[in-house]
Amino acid sequence: MKIAILGYGKMGKTIEQLALENGHEIILKVDDSNAVSWTNQQLQNADVAIEFTNPESAIKNIKRCLESSVPVVCGTTGWLEKIDEVKEKCHAENGGFFYASNFSIGVNIFFKLNKILAKMMNDYPQYKITMEEIHHTQKLDAPSGTAITLAEGIIENVDRKSQWVKESNSSMEELPIFSKRIEKVPGTHQIKYDSPIDTIEIKHTAHSRLGFAKGALLAAEWMVGKKGIYGMKDLLGNG
Ligand SMILES: NC(=O)c1ccc[n+]([C@@H]2O[C@H](COP(=O)([O-])OP(=O)(O)OC[C@H]3O[C@@H](n4cnc5c(N)ncnc54)[C@H](O)[C@@H]3O)[C@@H](O)[C@H]2O)c1
Repeated sequence: MKIAILGYGKMGKTIEQLALENGHEIILKVDDSNAVSWTNQQLQNADVAIEFTNPESAIKNIKRCLESSVPVVCGTTGWLEKIDEVKEKCHAENGGFFYASNFSIGVNIFFKLNKILAKMMNDYPQYKITMEEIHHTQKLDAPSGTAITLAEGIIENVDRKSQWVKESNSSMEELPIFSKRIEKVPGTHQIKYDSPIDTIEIKHTAHSRLGFAKGALLAAEWMVGKKGIYGMKDLLGNG
């Protein structure tokens, strides 16, 4: 498979290493240094593009892939308020677009576990719900895309919660997310149900970026030749 890597940073480099080990070819790598000079013609040599950049660049890059008829797998977080724009573009171009706030298989199991626990805890309002996420200090967005997905899973299943908020003195309807930035942490997410009697906690800790890279590469292999909009549920076949 011929891959274009849009965003040759921490994730792009991990994906490159894994892709080469799996016999794939990297035909284009884009970072800050060539972000204005790369061409659609270069991109069109790829079977698939993998996009891990920053919230400002992601939408532009995804649109360029769609215009070039190259399916695109995107993991960049912090831009999802504009996802409808990208979905429209994907339909208009009859393109292929795959998005996940977290490509790790373990996190996607954790997403499911979170929803099951939330459904159970709906009947127990004495438990106060909070979330904490920890990432490395270069991370641009807070809370993380993964934390937002987890929060949505709780809000869907707990009647007393209607929205998430950034680390504030939250009201009963709000779910507070506390973000910490600590050097070198790839990603930790913890959800706590706290009552005067006891505490129930679930936690996912990524040990490296490899889990994200493996999932993104799997999604890229799966996207070759595909049109339409997909996510991890389509790839992993679970709800
Ligand atoms: N979905 C997931 O599973 C997952 C996992 C880890 C990180 N992320 C997200 O992926 C993104 C990238 O993370 P990272 O740790 O690799 O960041 P990073 O800062 O190490 O890398 C970003 C790269 O993008 C490049 N870049 C900047 N502007 C560009 C442009 N216009 N075109 C192409 N490249 C450009 C930068 O030069 C840099 O090399 C972040 O949004 C992060 O939150 C998602």
